[in-house]
Amino acid sequence: MHKRLNRREFLAAGAGVTASALFASPARANAGDRIRCGILGAGSRGTYLMQLAMNVKDADFVAVCDIAKGRVRNAQAIVAKARGNTPDGYGEKGPQDYRRMLERKDLHAVLIATPIDLHAPMSIDALRAGKAVLSEVAAATTMDDCHGLVRAVEETRGFYMMAENVCYSRDCMMILNMVQQGVFGEGLTYAACGYVHDCRFLLFKPDGTLTWRGERMCRAVTGNRYPTHAIGPVAQWLGINKTDRFVSLVSMSSRSFGAREYATRKFGKDSPQAKIEFAGGDSNTTLIRTARGVVIDLRYDIASPRPVRSTTYMSLQGEKASYEGLTGEIWIDGRTGKDEWEPVAKYAKEYDHPYWQKWGREAEQTGHGGADFFVIREFFDALRAGKPSPIDVYDAVAWSCIIPLSAESVRKGSAPVEIPDFRKGERRDRATS
Ligand SMILES: NC(=O)c1ccc[n+]([C@@H]2O[C@H](COP(=O)([O-])OP(=O)(O)OC[C@H]3O[C@@H](n4cnc5c(N)ncnc54)[C@H](O)[C@@H]3O)[C@@H](O)[C@H]2O)c1
Repeated sequence: MHKRLNRREFLAAGAGVTASALFASPARANAGDRIRCGILGAGSRGTYLMQLAMNVKDADFVAVCDIAKGRVRNAQAIVAKARGNTPDGYGEKGPQDYRRMLERKDLHAVLIATPIDLHAPMSIDALRAGKAVLSEVAAATTMDDCHGLVRAVEETRGFYMMAENVCYSRDCMMILNMVQQGVFGEGLTYAACGYVHDCRFLLFKPDGTLTWRGERMCRAVTGNRYPTHAIGPVAQWLGINKTDRFVSLVSMSSRSFGAREYATRKFGKDSPQAKIEFAGGDSNTTLIRTARGVVIDLRYDIASPRPVRSTTYMSLQGEKASYEGLTGEIWIDGRTGKDEWEPVAKYAKEYDHPYWQKWGREAEQTGHGGADFFVIREFFDALRAGKPSPIDVYDAVAWSCIIPLSAESVRKGSAPVEIPDFRKGERRDRATS
C-alpha cells in the first residue's frame, strides 16, 4: 500500500490544481445511456455506496481506485460477483493515480469516499475532467477548497452532489414536510443539533498507528470537524440558500481528554500512543446566526465516553410548534395539550414525506435508517433526468465551511466570524445574463 499523503503533501504533489490536461467537456450520460461509474476510495463507505448503487439498473461500475491494493481487489470482486464484469483498478501508482482514472473518456460519474481532506481536491479534478461527482461528507475542509469547488462547478457547469444522508432520514424529512406545510408557523427562531457519539474506536489501526481520523484529532486548535450530518437537515428546514442564509458564527471548544484516556486504556500508560497530543478539544459548540434571525446551536463531540443514544440529534422551535429529536417528541399549538409533548410518530400518517410514503419499504433495507437509499436514488435520478443537484455545491459548501470557520473562531477566542454567501457568483451570472 502506498503511503497516504496528508492534505498539504497531497496538494504539493500536484492534485487539486486547475490542470488543463483534466479540463474536458462533461461526459454527460444521454437519456437511455448506461451511466458508467468509478469509485474513488474503496474503503468501508465507498464499497458500501458502490453496493447500493449496483441496485441502480442502468449504472455500471467500470473503474475502482484506491491506494490500498487489497481494497481495489475487494471492490473488483464485489462487482464481478454481482454484475459479472471486473472494473479496471487504479491507485497502484500512488495518491495521484486517480487522475489516470479521471482521464477515461468513457466514465460519466465518480463516487468519492476518500479521507475527508481529499474530497474537495478530488471533486474539483473530477469536475474539471468532465465527470459528475457524488462526494462523501464533508464537501471541503478549508475555505480555499470551498471556493475552489464552487468555481469548478460554475466553470464546468458540471453535476455535483454532496452525499449528506441524514437529510433523508424519515424523521428529518417528516419535519421538513411539516415546516413546508406551515405546522411550525411563519417564524422559526431556534434549532439545536449535534453529532455527538463516541467514535474513539476509529482513531487507531489494529497495528496501533493513527488512522486518518486519528491524525485529524491531533491537529492544533480545531472547531467542529464534522458538521454536515447535524446542520444539513436543519439548514433544509430553515430554507438556507433559499429563503434564508447563514451569516455568522461563534465557536468554543473544550479541552481535550477523551482520546488520550482511550489510548492509555487501550495501549497502556507507558505506550507511545498514550503520549500522543490530541490537541483538537473534545467538545465543540458553535452558534450560527441566520439572516432572518434564527439561532442554531450546533454541537460536535466524538471523543467523550458515553453510550450511543443517537449519532445525531436535532430540535426546532417555531412560533406554532416545537420538535425535540432526541426524545422524538413534538408539541403543536392547537393540537397538543398546553403542557404536553406527543410522540412525533403520531403524526407519521399525516406528514410522512412523500419520498418515504413511496419508497419507505425499499429504503428501510439500507444503511443509516434508510437514508443511504435516497442519496443514491436522488443522485442517479437527477443525473439521468438533467435535474438540478438535490444537495448542490452551494448547500455543500455552506454546511462544510463550518469546519474552517469554527476553527477560526476558536483560534480567535470565540470571536464572531462571517459566513460568506457562496451563491454570489451565481447570482452575478444570472443578473448579467
Ligand atoms: N455519510 C456517512 O454516513 C458516512 C459514513 C462513514 C464515512 N463517511 C465518509 O466517507 C469517507 C470515507 O470513510 P471510510 O470510513 O470509508 O474511510 P476508510 O479509511 O475506510 O476509506 C478511505 C479509503 O480511501 C483510500 N485512499 C486514501 N487516499 C487515497 C488516494 N489518494 N487515492 C485513492 N484512494 C485513497 C484509503 O486507502 C481507504 O481505502 C470519509 O470522508 C467519511 O467521513 C460518511
